[in-house]
Amino acid sequence: MSSLSKISVLPADLANQIAAGEVVERPASVAKELLENALDAGASRIELSLTGGGLKELTVIDDGFGMSPGDARLALQRHATSKLRAFTDLDSLCSFGFRGEALPSIASVSRFELTTREATRDEATVVTVLGGKDPQHRSAGGPVGTKVSVRDLFFNVPARLKFLRSTSTESGHVSDVFVALALGRPEVTFVLSRDGRTVRKLPKVKTRRERAIQVLERDDLRHVRGERGPLHIEAFLAGPESARNGASGLRFLVNGRPVRDRALAQAVAQTYGSTLERGRYPVGVVFLDLPPHLVDINVHPQKLEVRFAEARAVFDALFQVLSKELGYATEETLTKASAPNVRPFSRDRAPSPRAEAPLSPPEERQTLRVRASVAEEVPSIRPETLRAFELKDSAQPGRSRLRFIAQLRRSYLICEGREGLVILDQARLAERVLCSRLWNDFLEGRTRAQSLLFPIQVVVPEGLEHVLSLAEPLTQLGIEVRAKSDTVATIHSVPDALSHAPPEAVLAIVSQTLRESADLSPHERLRKLTACLGDAFCLKRGQTLGPGEASSLLSNFDELGATFEGPSPIVHRVSFEELDGGRAEPVPSSERPERSSEPSAPEASIFTQEPQDSGETQRPTKAKLSAEEPEAPRPRESGERRTTDQEQSAVPAPGAKRRSRGG
Ligand SMILES: Nc1ncnc2c1ncn2[C@@H]1O[C@H](COP(=O)(O)OP(=O)(O)OP(=O)(O)O)[C@@H](O)[C@H]1O
Ligand SMILES: [Mg+2]
Repeated sequence: MSSLSKISVLPADLANQIAAGEVVERPASVAKELLENALDAGASRIELSLTGGGLKELTVIDDGFGMSPGDARLALQRHATSKLRAFTDLDSLCSFGFRGEALPSIASVSRFELTTREATRDEATVVTVLGGKDPQHRSAGGPVGTKVSVRDLFFNVPARLKFLRSTSTESGHVSDVFVALALGRPEVTFVLSRDGRTVRKLPKVKTRRERAIQVLERDDLRHVRGERGPLHIEAFLAGPESARNGASGLRFLVNGRPVRDRALAQAVAQTYGSTLERGRYPVGVVFLDLPPHLVDINVHPQKLEVRFAEARAVFDALFQVLSKELGYATEETLTKASAPNVRPFSRDRAPSPRAEAPLSPPEERQTLRVRASVAEEVPSIRPETLRAFELKDSAQPGRSRLRFIAQLRRSYLICEGREGLVILDQARLAERVLCSRLWNDFLEGRTRAQSLLFPIQVVVPEGLEHVLSLAEPLTQLGIEVRAKSDTVATIHSVPDALSHAPPEAVLAIVSQTLRESADLSPHERLRKLTACLGDAFCLKRGQTLGPGEASSLLSNFDELGATFEGPSPIVHRVSFEELDGGRAEPVPSSERPERSSEPSAPEASIFTQEPQDSGETQRPTKAKLSAEEPEAPRPRESGERRTTDQEQSAVPAPGAKRRSRGG
């Protein structure tokens, strides 16, 4: 028997090319990495120039502190960084870079040249790399600072070129990265040239405000500031009249790092209340600054996303600060929804890195997680202080609108629809949202996955073969699993939509579901899997939802085209007619007042009263308030009793949901 090992370590150029798959997606990723390096090097002026959309050539020149000849050589080695020494440094990191993988990754898929000189040296060092092959070094003349030139990107991985768009689209992505980074560093001059022509020059300025005006090229931005505990919020936002479809004109910088975050964008849009139609977002920039240990920046291969240790607190704080300062909501609502309702941040909690996650059994982990998040919730904003929202009720023909009013028993979302009262089961709504997101993204080939910096090793006692037989579609679903042995696998990525779930728990559901559905077609098995994942990792009952979160859930539901119909009911309706006991005409929606001018307390109080209360003590229904009819004793027998009955029928016995899917 041969003693030759089957395993060999990949050569550096191949390993770098593989790593480049994650870091370098397109010219804009190269621009981002090089600009960030220049900023980390303390540059006061940075020039970015591109030819052919950055594919032919992309160069970044900075006047930063440069590198010594020795460091210039090391910089091209994988995991060589001057920015991180220990994992715990991530908790106090102020630089953009920390992984030491950008330069070797870029150099492995291009013709790369770096010229760098420190101020204390007479000569610069030039390092050239051709498609990841051995770096060549020489000395040359050159100014203090660093110039990195990347030519013929992906020349040696033609498959990647197929995924790129037109030159102008790729140029657009590069400009986007350029302005996003420039927004965070007003003290630095940024110059962008395209095909030999300067197209953008942003001279250094003193304040974020000046930079925002320069970048967004408008001076009508509202300047908003606020603080909640250690979180500082500063925003420059245009008015609703210049809002756009989609959130592309709304930027977020967390500790100076441009990030994308759908939930934050929704929180901002919601503060515009009825002045913005659904799906439209304001133009502007929002800066969130908080101590580094309260943000995990190590969650995305290109560092385009972050995870907040206390996401809910950040979300609600942003909503409240902007609502209050922008003034698109009523005075009364704003006063009541201000600071005291937001739980102060706990200063001693850092996001726990995945690598250090305890490997307790998945079910136990999940249970612990859910409990922990319930315990750590921001105390709910009292119902009467809730802002009202109008959202489409997509499941209904004619697309009626839903206006979130309050959360009941931390389990139900009470909303006003066009025809009456709508009560949604939040857990089932959330389940439908998560399941639809996973499935739709998969079908449309636009799943975004989060690579785990440290793949997690998991023992899969049963069913690993089922997982591996569907490894490819699973990767397309965002779940990348590789076998280590017959019963041990490593999980390398999870879909963005499941970034809150412990990866090993995700894998446990995957193996169980695929094992149990072995007799179905691959398509049906994957469909079932998305349903089970949606079920396992959606928001549960018992979790308090802030108004922003509830509305965001509703609008996600709407955007995904998910439906209320399904095996288990998630919606209950009580028409205005029923509420009125058949005696009054429902008030047409056009006569209902705009939500921003509505008093919210009376609506919420409807739901805080016990069904057995006497009619006299109860407030009039929303319909009557809206129509400004004289207050009449409220007929309660049909509407209210029925709500209670249905509510009871909608609450399954504890654990029923899990049992129903056989898990
Ligand atoms: N423009 C520059 N000026 C000075 N030093 C630089 C410059 N670019 C890179 N370096 C040095 O080279 C090292 C490697 O850069 P690289 O971008 O590969 O990794 P990183 O920035 O440390 O981490 P990340 O991979 O997360 O970006 C850096 O840590 C830094 O010391
Ligand atoms: Mg870097």
